[in-house]
Amino acid sequence: MRQVMVGLGARSYPIWIGHAQLPKLNEALDAVGFPRRVGLVTNPTVGELYGNQVTAALLAGNREVNVIQIPDGEQYKTLTTLEQIYDTLIDWQFDRYCGLLALGGGVIGDLTGFAAATFLRGIPFVQVPTTLLAQVDSSVGGKTGVNHPRGKNLIGAFYQPRHVHCDVGVLATLPEREYAAGMAEVVKYGVIRDAAFFSWLEQERDALTARSPRALEQAVMISCQIKADVVESDENEQGLRAILNYGHTFGHAVETLAGYGVVRHGEAVAIGMVMAARASVRLGFGTEADVVRLTGLLRARGLPVEPPAFPAEDYLAVMRHDKKVRDGGIRLVLNHGIGAADLHRVETPETLLRELLL
Ligand code: NAD
Ligand code: GLY
Repeated sequence: MRQVMVGLGARSYPIWIGHAQLPKLNEALDAVGFPRRVGLVTNPTVGELYGNQVTAALLAGNREVNVIQIPDGEQYKTLTTLEQIYDTLIDWQFDRYCGLLALGGGVIGDLTGFAAATFLRGIPFVQVPTTLLAQVDSSVGGKTGVNHPRGKNLIGAFYQPRHVHCDVGVLATLPEREYAAGMAEVVKYGVIRDAAFFSWLEQERDALTARSPRALEQAVMISCQIKADVVESDENEQGLRAILNYGHTFGHAVETLAGYGVVRHGEAVAIGMVMAARASVRLGFGTEADVVRLTGLLRARGLPVEPPAFPAEDYLAVMRHDKKVRDGGIRLVLNHGIGAADLHRVETPETLLRELLL
């Protein structure tokens, strides 16, 4: 078992990473003094696969468990679902001495975290992430929230969990596309912060394709360590934390133009990272060789790398709508070679985009 600490003073918490970790959940909750009464939030897909194991682990430690099931899908990450969670907690007479446990991917984690942040002005919660994306990204760092009809993640709070429990064994049942989408974020950490990790991902291609628990433990641990370091320096995203959005500005435009659900978020981020790497070459921060390595690694992970063929004007229109273009310029996270990145302001995004889309 590996452990990463997210060091945020009184709000610090451990991330446990291992294989066959679910039975150790109770031990982990005891270690952080988690309440004995637990509301387990999940969806039918994950509940069917892992709900019994998690419930058994909690009951074995004399915890009391109530289960809340919400339907599976991003379209349920809403204020309406949140209200249903509150209603259930009130029916159950949950008080401040109770806690919530999120068992699922980023949708369950974001919703549960925000319910925990706001119910009775805050009750403890833990994350048991079951997608690769949730294990390496969404369960760590305390961003919680729901979507609004007019935009994703518009309502939310920074609220840290008490513990994150990653069992890489659960990734065995993840559909291929979801696994690949999580890998886009793993690759991102190598590009923005850790050249040795990037090389390791290249070397471990086959083990990662086979979902080897050894390779996955290492990949999740290094990813969480990098995210923890960034979050420790800038919890509320006043500066450095923005580098975690590498590839996301272009990626979001790709997602919007191609249509949500057509391209998965992680796939759009993969394309967005290649666009960012090409932009870095144009602006003198990176080399063609970086782009070749990045596209090679993303392709090996089953991810797309070419932007869909929409005119540069369409990309710009989306970025303007997202308020990414301000006063004619755009703020972009650009990689400096492989292993470092920084925020830059680009004054002529039109020219840049036309060059990138040639
Ligand atoms: P998701 O939660 O929708 O999960 C993807 C699918 O996989 C779902 O159908 C789910 O039921 C299924 N699933 C989950 N675990 C499984 C398993 N082990 N085996 C089989 N199927 C499984 O999607 P996601 O990609 O995990 O998360 C996306 C969400 O995360 C978005 O809402 C996004 O906004 C959010 N997010 C949040 C942060 C953050 O910092 N809080 C960061 C990135 C993304
Ligand atoms: N997913 C980006 C962040 O947590 O800041």
